[in-house]
Amino acid sequence: MRLAPDAASLARAARLLGDGAQVAFPTETVYGLGADARQSEAVAGIYAAKGRPSFNPLIVHVADLAQAQALVHFTPQALTLAQAFWPGPLTLVLPLRAGAGISTLVTAGLDTLAVRVPAHPVAQALLHAFGGPVAAPSANPSGRISPTTAAHVLAGLAGRIAAVVDGGACTVGVESTILDMTGDPTLLRAGGVSAESLSAVLGAPLAVPATSVTDAPVAPGQLASHYAPRGAVRLNATHAEPGEVLLGFGAVTGDLTLSASGDLTEAAATLFDALHRLDDMWAAAIAVAPVPDAGLGAAINDRLRRAAAPRNPG
Ligand code: TXA
Ligand code: MG
Repeated sequence: MRLAPDAASLARAARLLGDGAQVAFPTETVYGLGADARQSEAVAGIYAAKGRPSFNPLIVHVADLAQAQALVHFTPQALTLAQAFWPGPLTLVLPLRAGAGISTLVTAGLDTLAVRVPAHPVAQALLHAFGGPVAAPSANPSGRISPTTAAHVLAGLAGRIAAVVDGGACTVGVESTILDMTGDPTLLRAGGVSAESLSAVLGAPLAVPATSVTDAPVAPGQLASHYAPRGAVRLNATHAEPGEVLLGFGAVTGDLTLSASGDLTEAAATLFDALHRLDDMWAAAIAVAPVPDAGLGAAINDRLRRAAAPRNPG
């Protein structure tokens, strides 16, 4: 069921969440598939709808900092970052409070919790209407391209979820940046807030995880292959080989182009929709032009590398 983002529909979506249903909703990054983070059966429904491995912990979304503080213990540095970047595309991993009431299915049994306050006005309105913590991974079948429109959500999950609230296209277009704040601030996933702007606020560079995502996952579930279109993906391409479609950037013009002017913000916002559209052309492979690695380019290249990685079985 597709719901408009008006007050009556948002109240209905909030009731569905309270009843334990799975509801997709827009955030500024990508569409999330939400469920009440306190109800284990509701959370299990997320894993079932996505076909997601259950060792993968989920991000909890709340309306504001006060709600986040009821769930996790903030360090002074985490508070500084929350005040600078929330609401917005930043997720903080912090020690879970005893008695926070979060289902262990959300944390996958960890004693830490990933929390974020999304900026999208529809996400804000839904979280305020619901009043509780909403666990929400991206609203796509596990391993596939993340959704940045309600149509993407329905293409992947129609019939498997109660509703999608349609809030138009996501403006950031790549998932939130994830920082582990339980020790030295450590970058677990590049995302919508650049590492450069985070270290500028912290006054120190971010640590990077000791193990690579291809080994033991540090952000559990940071699977090497992810965001995968049906066809193969070939990176750093300047032209299409026979049978390929080309995703362009800057001076490299493709069948679709992320940003002709080489603008990384525009490229992030277009990335997943472009991959969905090229995927729908059923080409043997998608060739992708080089994207510079600075700022939001780090998140874009991370997603492209995962799209190009050898596929996980199943
Ligand atoms: O932009 C986003 O973050 C989107 C929108 C919907 O908000 N959500 C999203 O959630 O990307 P998801 O579930 O696809 O990504 C969650 C990531 C996973 O890589 C997971 O391993 C990591 O967060 N994560 C969750 N809890 C964690 C924890 N306690 N410690 C370390 N990593 C954690
Ligand atoms: Mg995802």
